Order: sequence, then C-alpha cells, then structure tokens
Amino acid sequence: MPKHFLTTADWTREELEGLLDAALRRKRGEDTSRPLEGRSVGLVFFNPSLRTRASMQVGAYELGGNAVVLEPGGTSWTLEHREGVVMDGDKTEHVSEFVRVLGRYCSGVGVRTFAALRDWKEERRDPVLAAFAKHSEVPVINLESAMHHPCQSMADMLTVREKLGRGRKRVLMTWAWHPKPLPMAVPNSFALAAAQMGHDLTIAHPPGYELDEELVAEINGRAFDAGSTVRVTHDVEEAFDGAEVVYAKSWGSSEFYGSPQEDVEERAPYRGEWIVDAEKMRRTDGALFMHCLPVRRNCIVTDEVIDSPASVVIDEAENRLHVQKAIMARLIAGGGG
Ligand code: CP
Repeated sequence: MPKHFLTTADWTREELEGLLDAALRRKRGEDTSRPLEGRSVGLVFFNPSLRTRASMQVGAYELGGNAVVLEPGGTSWTLEHREGVVMDGDKTEHVSEFVRVLGRYCSGVGVRTFAALRDWKEERRDPVLAAFAKHSEVPVINLESAMHHPCQSMADMLTVREKLGRGRKRVLMTWAWHPKPLPMAVPNSFALAAAQMGHDLTIAHPPGYELDEELVAEINGRAFDAGSTVRVTHDVEEAFDGAEVVYAKSWGSSEFYGSPQEDVEERAPYRGEWIVDAEKMRRTDGALFMHCLPVRRNCIVTDEVIDSPASVVIDEAENRLHVQKAIMARLIAGGGG
C-alpha cells in the first residue's frame, strides 16, 4: 500500500520536521531539484479552492511535473464512494475504478472533499477520502477533507517556525464569529499539528463549539508526548494573554450538523465579541496574526489587525506552495523533499 498524507497524525514529529526543513530549503532556493520530471499529479476537487488548487498546480510544475485537475460532477463523472451500493442513482462512476485509472496516468492523487455538514457521525470518519486512500495504488494527499487539512497545518507550522524560530511557542487558536457554520478541518489539523510540534496550545471557543472528543484526546496525547500543554477556555479576552501566535478560525458545532439555521441562531450572540481586534491583540506578547484564508474581514478579524504588521496571512498562504512541494517530492518521488 502506498504511503499517503491524510493527516499529520500518521507521521512522526521527526518526519514532519523533515518536511518543514525540506520546504524551507525549497523556499530559500537551496533545493531546486525537479523530482517530478516526466510525472503527473491528479488533483480532484469536489469543492472550490484558490490557494490549494493554484499552489498544487504551480508546485507540481516547479517540481518538473504536470497537474491534471478534475472536478467530479463538473469536468469528470459524478462519483460514488460507498461500498456495495446499487448504483442506480445519480452517481456514474465508483471511486474504486476512478482512482485506480487515475493512478495509471498519475504518480500521486490529491483530493479535496469538504464536510457536507449534514451528518457528523458519518462525516467525522472521512468516508470519501478513506475510499480514495483504500483503493488508490499511488499516494493520496489530503487537500482538505471533513476532518483534516494537513497541508494547511504544515504551512501554518512552517510560518510559525519561519517568523519566530524553532522551539515551543504560546499558540492561541480562537473560534471567531462567521455568518454560517463552516467545517472543522482547519482547526482540527492546526491544533493537532501544533501539539505534535510541541507548542503550548490554548483553544478558545464558546460553549457548544467543542472539537471532536476523540481528536481532542489525540491532541492531548501528542502534546503529552512532546512535553507541551493544551488548555481549552471559553473566555475570549483572557485567552489572548501572553500569546505569541493568534490563529483565528470559525467552525460549526457538531451538535447542529444537519440544522445550519440552529447553529446560526446559537452563534448570534457571539457576533462582535468573538472577533480578533486590536484590543485583544494588545493582550498578547506581540503575537502574529494567522488565518488560513479565505477570511471574512470585520467578522473574523478587523481590518486594523489583518492589515497590521502582525498579520502574516499572505506569507502563510505562500507557504502552502513550499510545504506541498516538499510533500509531493517525499511521497511521489520518494525524495527527502
Ligand atoms: N486555505 C485554503 O485551503 O484555501 P482554499 O480553500 O482557497 O484552497
């Protein structure tokens, strides 16, 4: 079975550090090798994207390779992922054939498949991504699934290291108000990677917006292994005290999967309170402001903060390119990146 990149939890801290080292070498121009020469990467997008799609296409090109972008239901057939179903509905092709055929043309496959926010119990198992990983004969890279966005969290870890140096940092990941419920992949992966890399992590969110219980246990275990700490708070002011990194993200409550209007009503009181503004940033230890983008200005973060020197969101987005080149080189060409 090929080695995949589905979640950072499948990779050791040493392996992840190795990917970050490789990404930095590429970013600094110290490694200009082209390990994908003569190879192609398939990129399967069930959902929209700017950063992930553009950085994967450019990354494959810069590694000497080619990218084939497919959009099931748009530029390719609609896909079934469930096992044993009678395919007499609207799905034309099964992932089983799709990904094995793609693997005959491409040396790796990236997949973006968001949570539908309909059924938490089902979606937390990442069934679409799992079907790709199960049937693929070439490495699969998770480009954001219902549960994880590991390429984003690696770019986040690279940004923290680049801006603040190696070693443990005080990192706050804070929920922020957004007009509608969003998937949890980014906060899940950021918290997990921060714990794996040994950062002291504070997670701030209103009551009812807890991360997945099993994942939180995993995050705590990884932090314990790394000798770092994790704490959860519902106090959006105190959470900022002494932070060196502020990572903002909105997500939906797993309680309201299938009932978005209920989530919208639940979060209404948090508007204007759960926002990253200059007053909260003053409580930090000169923290960086980070967000995966796209971001809704003056909902998640004020213009004043995102346009301030503390904001590293554009560098963070650039780092998607460098880490993904390192990941593709390592997985597809077997090199150190
Ligand atoms: N952060 C991120 O994954 O951006 P896109 O959705 O634009 O790819």
